[in-house]
Amino acid sequence: MTRKKTRPQPAPAPKDVQTDALTRYAPLLGEAGLACLVAEQARPLPQALRLNPFKVDPGQAISALAGRYGWQVSRVPFCPLGWQVLESPAPISQTSEHRAGQYYIQDAASMLPVELFDLEKLPERPVILDMAASPGGKTTHLVDRSGDVGLVIANDASPSRLQALRIVLQNWGAANTAITGYSGDLFGQAFPETFDAVLLDAPCSMENLRTTESHPMRPISASERRGLAQRQLRLLESALRAVRPGGQIVYSTCTLAPEEDEGVLDELMQMYPLAVQIERPPQRLGIQAPGLESDGVRQFHPDVTLALRLWPHTAGTSGFFAARLTKIDSLPGEASQPPQRPFEKTGLARLDTGELETLGNGLMDSFGLDIFSWLEEQMLTLWQRGNDVYAIPDQYMNLFAGLPYHSLGLLVGQHTPDGFYPSHDWLARFSYAVQSQVFDLPAEFRLRWLGGEDFPVDGLPFTARSMVMVRDEAGCFLGRGRVLPGRIKQLRR
Ligand SMILES: C[S@@+](CC[C@H](N)C(=O)[O-])C[C@H]1O[C@@H](n2cnc3c(N)ncnc32)[C@H](O)[C@@H]1O
Repeated sequence: MTRKKTRPQPAPAPKDVQTDALTRYAPLLGEAGLACLVAEQARPLPQALRLNPFKVDPGQAISALAGRYGWQVSRVPFCPLGWQVLESPAPISQTSEHRAGQYYIQDAASMLPVELFDLEKLPERPVILDMAASPGGKTTHLVDRSGDVGLVIANDASPSRLQALRIVLQNWGAANTAITGYSGDLFGQAFPETFDAVLLDAPCSMENLRTTESHPMRPISASERRGLAQRQLRLLESALRAVRPGGQIVYSTCTLAPEEDEGVLDELMQMYPLAVQIERPPQRLGIQAPGLESDGVRQFHPDVTLALRLWPHTAGTSGFFAARLTKIDSLPGEASQPPQRPFEKTGLARLDTGELETLGNGLMDSFGLDIFSWLEEQMLTLWQRGNDVYAIPDQYMNLFAGLPYHSLGLLVGQHTPDGFYPSHDWLARFSYAVQSQVFDLPAEFRLRWLGGEDFPVDGLPFTARSMVMVRDEAGCFLGRGRVLPGRIKQLRR
């Protein structure tokens, strides 16, 4: 069998864009470094994925996936849940497991920033802001690393990018999250010293010196670069204000332009020398990739070398930059009023004890799922609007109840005339634990089911009109169905 490479390689960047970029970086790399970079650019960049620890056993999942789909894999050295797929006969996006949110496809370099946080120094249930979050790859990583027991506010200023963020978080099964749509500048002023950690994965020039589908190379003018650096500095200052003293900030970009990366950190250090420090990367990551001392003209603050600069030819990834900072003192300045809306206006009403008992006992009887323990462990409460029931983070209610949001928590399910139906995303999160109401779809019907067809069948041992969880032949969650005469009808999300 001929094996295809995992990622169809995009057309190379136009020659003049490529040459301009290489000319800019030649003085920083030297002749030998430049030759290595050019050689690396010709190699295909393997796709990578991060496993979802809420849905799979990370110790077993990758060998099961590799066996099922004929992948060759190797670890992402700095991310315990990250794997590169070196070879695959078919695209790694086209599997039941990917649809079920069991892994997220993400460049290896993009797994670096969240791994930089030192969670042992943060509270057990940290309150985290992902300031520029869409489409949400790093938010899912933050949720994993904090065990989905704290709160992650996933914010993005672009209204058109919020829906993608919502879909990613739902598919991941993340519950202790809220999505907001503000400019990141708001948080420093309106929520000073509120967060234990802030990720600023900043809007940047994307000059990562490695063309991929998601990062085509394009020409960037000096003034655009200056504008981006200024915006990053503003956002980083806001992050510094929003974090409490002792809290952590990770600043990252997918560009290697020193005017942004080291240049921005240098300016921050000049502005707030007594309030912030750049931290040495944790040893567990095993990476030697120091930031630049100078861009050839400008000498940077000496601590800027503690940042991580992943050159494609030394790291074997796309170009990437990241640094972890600690806030060591408060910043002067007045707080401003955050946007406000009485929570009652959301139309959400908290389930009372009786309603909760009925719903929880029903889920136990029908599916063998214990929602009570989950709510307690994850610090969530159930709220209802219309027929929909949501799990909502306690920490959001404690700290941000008045803040208008785009979406909050996780939809647990809907009341229907035929009983309570767990939602697609909630059931997918717990599919490994479901003990009854399970329907194993015959392998030969799998593609037709994925194409939206109902499954024709009669005489199943389920109550009419009840809901079943549908699995494929490998036990992977495929969705929900309703038992009707002569068929299992697909239930949409
Ligand atoms: C590099 S992307 C983020 C990628 C994301 N962190 C991930 O891992 O999936 C940068 C994001 O910043 C957002 N953005 C741009 N200006 C912003 C601002 N002033 N405040 C907040 N977000 C902003 C963009 O809409 C874009 O989604």
